[in-house]
Amino acid sequence: MSDVIETEALTRTFGGRAAVDHVDLRVERGEVFGLLGPNGAGKTTTIRMLTTLLAPTSGTARVCGFDISSRPRQVRRRLGYVQQTIPWQVNSLLSPRELLEVEASLHHVGRGDRKAFVDEALELVGLAEHADRLIKELSGGMHKRLDLASGLLHRPELLILDEPTLGLDVQSRHGIWEYVGRLAHQGVTVLVATNYLDEADRLCDRLMIVDHGRTIVTGSPEELKRQIGGDVIQVATASADLFRSAIADAPWVKRIVDGGSREIHVYVEDATLALPEVMRTSFDNGIVLERLTYAQPSLDDVFLLHTGRELRDLEMAS
Ligand SMILES: Nc1ncnc2c1ncn2[C@@H]1O[C@H](COP(=O)(O)OP(=O)(O)OP(=O)(O)O)[C@@H](O)[C@H]1O
Ligand SMILES: [Mg+2]
Repeated sequence: MSDVIETEALTRTFGGRAAVDHVDLRVERGEVFGLLGPNGAGKTTTIRMLTTLLAPTSGTARVCGFDISSRPRQVRRRLGYVQQTIPWQVNSLLSPRELLEVEASLHHVGRGDRKAFVDEALELVGLAEHADRLIKELSGGMHKRLDLASGLLHRPELLILDEPTLGLDVQSRHGIWEYVGRLAHQGVTVLVATNYLDEADRLCDRLMIVDHGRTIVTGSPEELKRQIGGDVIQVATASADLFRSAIADAPWVKRIVDGGSREIHVYVEDATLALPEVMRTSFDNGIVLERLTYAQPSLDDVFLLHTGRELRDLEMAS
């Protein structure tokens, strides 16, 4: 069976600037695939092309076996799409059940099947007991779950989620991950755009890291982190330049990457052996360390290694 999503050099420009730049994406049947990148990376633009809402400037894409440009109706029929923001629903005077019934009819779910489809979707996202309240009375987390339910109502082959947990508290986010995991278990392919590192790490079988419209790297979270290898020691010091040159040629250093002002990330094989060296070198050179921590590599380290910037900082700045 061919891949559920297959793009070749998919490109979209706005006013001469590429929002999505020659992206080759392959999403296999049954996987949860993540598009991870900072604000403005081109995630939503990619998704809008894949859902046939926006025409590519160049390149091609097949979704569920159909070309997005020549067979858009076939594509739309097979996918569920949960947008980044669905503002009109928030004040709705309908109940979740009523909303989903309307949507089921819009998706041409036959009258006889409608109740079963709606009940199943409500059950799956844990909204069965709130099905007959007013939507405007639901919490933010429940709204997101309702969005999710409407995306999977017509039992799509492919579910596309744009920032499914944006702005949610930790507990609601874990809930959404669990529901998405359940769907994947049932064989639904899921494409999820996120700028949360932990979401990409926990939820996705594979992911593509994107930045400025371009693919940075693709792989499973484990593969990407393993490529870095070993441990990461993070040092904060006012004497960052001095520290960098003092350790530059040390045999225990695999790679040094700047992590913003005063912060240096040192990639080493084994932090327990390298930490005493870091302290000794600092002491010998009169360098005061403001902070010294070490950890296994995270997806943030993967992003930093490939772009020279930290995704975490970009998120906090935005
Ligand atoms: N309709 C449009 N007209 C002009 N520029 C656009 C349009 N849509 C998107 N862009 C630009 O394309 C780039 C990518 O935007 P996009 O919304 O795809 O990013 P994103 O990765 O989804 O970001 P976020 O994490 O903030 O949702 C941005 O520079 C954005 O300003
Ligand atoms: Mg977006």
